[in-house]
Order: sequence, then C-alpha cells, then structure tokens
Amino acid sequence: MRALVLAGGTGSRLRPFSYSIPKQLIPIANRPVLAHVLDNIRALGVEQVGVIVGDGSRQIREEIGDGSRFGLAVTYIPQERPLGLAHCVAIARPFLGDDDFVMYLGDNMLPEGVGVPAAGFAAARPAAHVVVRKVVDPRAFGVAEFRPDGVLERVVEKPDRPRSDLALIGVYFFTAAIHRAVAAIEPSARGELEITDAIQWLVDQGEQVTAAEYTGFWRDVGRVEDVLECNRRLLADLRTGVEGLLGDGVRISGPVVIEAGARVERSRVEGPALIGAGTVVEDSEVGPGTSIGRDCTLRGARVRDSVVMDGVCLTAPVELRDSLIGRGAVIGMPSGDGPYRLIVGDSTRIEAAT
Ligand code: TTP
Repeated sequence: MRALVLAGGTGSRLRPFSYSIPKQLIPIANRPVLAHVLDNIRALGVEQVGVIVGDGSRQIREEIGDGSRFGLAVTYIPQERPLGLAHCVAIARPFLGDDDFVMYLGDNMLPEGVGVPAAGFAAARPAAHVVVRKVVDPRAFGVAEFRPDGVLERVVEKPDRPRSDLALIGVYFFTAAIHRAVAAIEPSARGELEITDAIQWLVDQGEQVTAAEYTGFWRDVGRVEDVLECNRRLLADLRTGVEGLLGDGVRISGPVVIEAGARVERSRVEGPALIGAGTVVEDSEVGPGTSIGRDCTLRGARVRDSVVMDGVCLTAPVELRDSLIGRGAVIGMPSGDGPYRLIVGDSTRIEAAT
C-alpha cells in the first residue's frame, strides 16, 4: 500500500499564520502536524508516500526532506491550485499506479493512530473505506448516510440538512477503482473536484464502499482553537524529561519536558509543558497546557494553555492564555493588567509603551 498526503490547500481559516507557514507545519507539542501524520502512516507499514504541495511547498520540503527521517520515501507532487481532494488523487495517479492507498489530509491529528480502519480495509479490500466520526454540527463536513442495515448509502458534501451526524474525517482507503471515479466526476459548484462525489460515484456503480467509525480524538487544525485543543491533547501524554539547565529558584510540577540547550531560571513550570531547545526562561511562569518552541526568550512572562512557536520573544510582565504566537514574534507589555488573548502571526511585534 502507498500513502497520499494532502499538504496543499489555502488554510484561509488559519490566517494570519497560513500567510507565512503552511498549516501542516504548525507545531503540535513542538512537532509539525505533518510529522505526526507521517508517524501514523509509517505505523501502518507504508513506505512510499506522495505529498501534495501547494504554496507552502518550499517550507514543507525543507522540513520533511526525502522522508528518510521518518523511515519513509517521500515523492512531492506539486498542485498548482487547490482544486479539490479528488484533484489531488488525479494528479497523483502516476505516483499511485494501480496500488491500494491511504489518502490522509495533512492537517488531521489522530493521536491514537489509524491502525484499526487500515486493518478493516486490508481485510475486505472494498473499493473505498472511509473513516467517519460523530460530530456536533455535520454541516461543515462530508456526511455519510447509512441504510438501517448499516450499508453506506450516500455521501453528501456539506449538506444544509444533514441526515446523519457521521462526518467523513481526513483518512480514506482506496483501491485503484477510485481513479475511474475521479475521471468520471465534474467539478462541484465551488469549482473543486470533490472526493465525496467520487465516492458517491463508486456507490452508484454498485462498488463496495464501507465505513469505519472512529471514536478516538480527532481534529483538523483548521482554526486556532483546534491547534490549541490538539496541543493540550498531545501534552496530556507527556512524560517528564529535563535535559536543559535549571538555575536557581526553579519550581517544576507535573509532566514537563525541557530540551537540551534550554535554560530556566527563577521560574515556575507547571506541566504538562514543553520548553524547546535553545529557549531561555527567566522570572516567568509557564504552563499548564503550553508548548514553547526553540530559541525563544521569556522574561517576566506568564503563559498558559498556549502554543508559542520558534524564536518568539516575550518580555516585560506579559500574561497570556489560550494564545497562538507565530514564529519570531516579539511581544512586550507594560506591567500588570493581563491576561491578554493574542492570536499573533509570524514576525509580528506587539509593544505597549508605559
Ligand atoms: P481543507 O481544510 O478542506 O482546505 P484548506 O486547507 O484550503 O483550508 P481552508 O478551508 O481554511 O481554506 O483541506 C484539507 C487538507 O487537504 C489540507 O491539508 C489541505 C489539503 N488540500 C490540498 O492539498 N489540495 C486541495 O486542493 C485541497 C482542497 C486541500
């Protein structure tokens, strides 16, 4: 089996970040979403991975390279514009050949892995095997409708009046039958080749299409809230590992990782919390639910339930919570009247004069 990872797209819901960083590279517990995706793919025993890339191509190639770090062989497949999930399958055809494949949206976080649906697919090899999950509001998703006997009857993209609360999530298993479907469908009203239309085409042709219900944690990192939620979920499994330097007056509680090359002085770190290599923390309070990237400086800062990317500088008494801070942002506040909630893109400067 091969894998096709979709890491193009626009990421419009994650602006301003997605102007400068592809959302698939947003760090969750200090590793890009895409690294978590590739781990899950490797765990299936897959080795050959095609990665669809769009505007963020250069950064993604720099981060993932040839895939060998993940035990994978990665082939990049450029997509000129985000013309839909089924369009990705079409342009990946030379890479996929007639092999079975798992299609995995590169912004999806499933920390419990996808071994169970993969085994379901391998056992029966239906033309398509989709993964569905109960969601509160299915109108934003592709929705699967089932007959009373459990057979999948219809998949509908973003229905106004959903007839089921089971949404298709970002992992699909296909045999080569999907290529006929993709070739047969037309672009939708929003101008995209929809994978739901291709799956529906298979159903209409009498091909076997099955579904696995996923009950574990799942989010796509479409919005800031999702990023923070994924981060909290991954940090919940954190195991303490302090390799950095701890100076005087440091208090640590709960699971905390302080990477080698980081330095913490006169500060409190409440786990779960992660502090990346090269970061300096002085006179600060970090955590819980917080990851601080590499090469950051925190002086007199209080940060909780937040994701702080690499190279950020937080100075003066600044109190943040539920915040996402882009790479290289510099934030200095006068004393006292926090907490603030900041959704700050890469390279931003926020300084309040006293
Ligand atoms: P989406 O989240 O549906 O789309 P998007 O990334 O453009 O985000 P937004 O809706 O906020 O503008 O895409 C799901 C995943 O598939 C994501 O990793 C991007 C990827 N993708 C492609 O690679 N090519 C495409 O043509 C599309 C539509 C998505």
